[in-house]
Amino acid sequence: MSYKNSKEIYDKAVKFIPGGVNSPVRAFKSVHREAPIFVKKAKGSKLWDEDGNEYIDYICSWGPMILGHNFKNVIEGVREEVENGSSYGLPTKLEVELAELITKCCPSMDKVRLTTSGTEATMSAVRLARAYTGRNKILKFEGCYHGHSDALLVKSGSGLLTDGYQDSNGITEGVLKDTLTVPFGDREKIKEVLEKNNIACLIMEPVPANMGVISPDVEFLKFVREICTATSTVLIFDEVISGFRLSLGGAQEYFGITPDMTTLGKIIGGGYPVGAFGGKEEIMNLVAPIGRVYHAGTLSGNPISVRAGLETVSYLYNNKETIYKELENKTKYITENLEKLAKKYNVPVCINRLGSLYTIFFTERDEVKNLEDALSSNTENFATYFNTMLDNGIVIPPSQFEAHFISLALTDEDIAKTLEVAEKAFKNITNKI
Ligand SMILES: Cc1ncc(COP(=O)(O)O)c(C=O)c1O
Repeated sequence: MSYKNSKEIYDKAVKFIPGGVNSPVRAFKSVHREAPIFVKKAKGSKLWDEDGNEYIDYICSWGPMILGHNFKNVIEGVREEVENGSSYGLPTKLEVELAELITKCCPSMDKVRLTTSGTEATMSAVRLARAYTGRNKILKFEGCYHGHSDALLVKSGSGLLTDGYQDSNGITEGVLKDTLTVPFGDREKIKEVLEKNNIACLIMEPVPANMGVISPDVEFLKFVREICTATSTVLIFDEVISGFRLSLGGAQEYFGITPDMTTLGKIIGGGYPVGAFGGKEEIMNLVAPIGRVYHAGTLSGNPISVRAGLETVSYLYNNKETIYKELENKTKYITENLEKLAKKYNVPVCINRLGSLYTIFFTERDEVKNLEDALSSNTENFATYFNTMLDNGIVIPPSQFEAHFISLALTDEDIAKTLEVAEKAFKNITNKI
């Protein structure tokens, strides 16, 4: 496979864009490649790069493309909306329809406010929780990622983890001091922090997916709910990834745990820029213009994004009885076979899977339950796996510490090819050990 054109574009990109990419997770540095592939187009389960190489896609834009790329209803809806106009700075009926649909699917949200990204959603949710409780400090889990607002870039996951650091520079001491962190799953530490401090909110990915996928124990989620109630701490479920992916009602429906607030993004924009935060009416009524917690956005609720989101969420809603089962079955089949192949070639792995998300950790540990376990992974083995996959037409996240995303468009042939190539990858790892 030639990557000549991507390399040429990259050489130009680094002159004008830091690192040549507009989000660090797109860089291929951690898998020992100088240049990423530059994508030209996508359809269904496939991507094509600027060199004409075809790939089966397991990144799915980091989550939004649950129905596959260029899904018919989304494309048609967007085309129609673009003809009407692009953005008005005044409300549209579509925003109301999306807000109604979201609250119908996620009944814990009485009201919802749309934003332009997941980062804005979590940032605004934290501000709102602080205003509601009159408290300053917040609590998050090590290795969880909630976007790139200052307060949440502490012991963070995703691209920071991939690049080997967890706290961003450029954040004031004051902000850092107000964000407390504990390991995911550590009940004693959570209890201690919540009981000893006045904490405004505990913000968590109910299914952490930014240190690789971690399957939470439902008893742990129940514990978190109870301790937040007992300490009057606002419980925020950051469902930017898990929302509409694990089930229509996200992780909260999947596990039957009701948070006070929820943040969403990705799928509810169908591949276009979006985010949302919502929750109990008494909290949401503090948001401007009815309350004095400011949140605004020139492109908040942009009609193109909202239409793409409406088409995506409506399709999921109308086919909920079959879609989630199908996604789960595909993922189960892939991961069970990956496990068998890894065993055949004596490559130590631990695969975490939930719904249509999975991560293959190249670790000797039997379980990966938190950041410390995830960090035990052999990133060299991951790099060999990634590179074999890419060079044979399969694109997976270029980091050990991210989730693979399954889309509905993934065919049986795609899966068969993926497993065939994965076998080669395990063989290559064995040859290197
Ligand atoms: C759980 C979670 N929260 C928040 C965000 C931030 O969303 P965005 O990239 O749209 O700002 C992400 C992004 O990956 C995420 O995974």
